[in-house]
Amino acid sequence: MELLEKTDQVHEVLLKTFEEKINRGDAIEPRDRMPDAYRKHLMRQMSQHAHSEVIGMQPEGNWITRAPSLRAKQILLAKIQDEGGHGLYLYSAAETLGITRDEMIAQLHSGKAKYSNIFNYPALNWADIGAIGWLVDGAAIVNQVSLQRTSYGPYSRAMVRICKEESFHQRQGYEIMAKMMAGTKDQNDMAQDAMDRWWWPSLMMFGPHDSDSPHTSDAVKWKIKRNTNDELRQKFIDKTVQQAEVIGLTIPDKDLKWNEAKGCYDHGAINWDEFYRVVAGQGPCNKQRLAHHKKVHAEGAWVREAAEAYRIKKEKQLLHN
Ligand code: 3HC
Repeated sequence: MELLEKTDQVHEVLLKTFEEKINRGDAIEPRDRMPDAYRKHLMRQMSQHAHSEVIGMQPEGNWITRAPSLRAKQILLAKIQDEGGHGLYLYSAAETLGITRDEMIAQLHSGKAKYSNIFNYPALNWADIGAIGWLVDGAAIVNQVSLQRTSYGPYSRAMVRICKEESFHQRQGYEIMAKMMAGTKDQNDMAQDAMDRWWWPSLMMFGPHDSDSPHTSDAVKWKIKRNTNDELRQKFIDKTVQQAEVIGLTIPDKDLKWNEAKGCYDHGAINWDEFYRVVAGQGPCNKQRLAHHKKVHAEGAWVREAAEAYRIKKEKQLLHN
């Protein structure tokens, strides 16, 4: 009985130390003791974030060979390469929590782990590449700038690095949209059509309303989230509406209206049925995205095996020297 009491006391002290660190705004590092629930919350969010970065390479990758100029192709290639790197940073940061890359990939392939809703929509033409860069990366920036102050050290540091590259992504997308809006009537129509198709799914990227979010209260309590889903969504709307107006695009929301009293835009209702349908796997491209990831993962097995064999060989050499 005494040992049990001692264990409980130690547990209490460790939990108190963790909470004091969180309250002080100190970073929690991999070697720190942390509640299992905190660790699991981060494993879930960080692995899904990493999956999103990698799956997000697919819709844009389809347009590398169709880019309208060499410059456009170079920019798109650089952006997609960045996204792959963001995935690697995030998988590596998630591994510090004690989950392996293989486990995370298996969760993605089994459907246990999600990735962002937005990547289940098709990129139909070049204007979509502009809309993805401007709206999707624009939304990601709003979310990720906030995540730079997340309480888990490795995640926060990954965000600082990723945000530096994300702003180039948003700007290149906006440049494509601005060029098309300064172009022919057909180009204007293409850009507006892309705006109409990508606006609402981009708002859904921030997650359900705070009142419907099962994770936000813990995330805010543990300072994993420094802003809630609705706060970040509002921030994105307020800055993007002005950007759209500058280049002559219309936001596809008849209820969008500046609210002087609140100092922000009121907007129409989001179609959460569509959100949950897409997140549940019934989006336009869910099956294609996952099938492609599984195919390429299998095709790349030999690279992973060769890298692992090389690592083991080097380790043996070091041990014998
Ligand atoms: N797509 C898919 N699932 C989503 C989602 C979305 N946009 N938003 C929420 N969900 C899921 C959550 O994962 C959770 O399901 P789970 O319990 O099975 O994980 C459920 O819906 C409830 O949502 P919550 O809001 O309660 O969940 P979170 O507290 O995790 O908040 C989040 C959701 C705001 C997306 C948060 O996870 C987050 O900030 N993640 C990090 C950012 C991220 O993942 N961004 C994805 C895009 S990356 C990107 O765009 C790359 C860019 O370079 C192109």
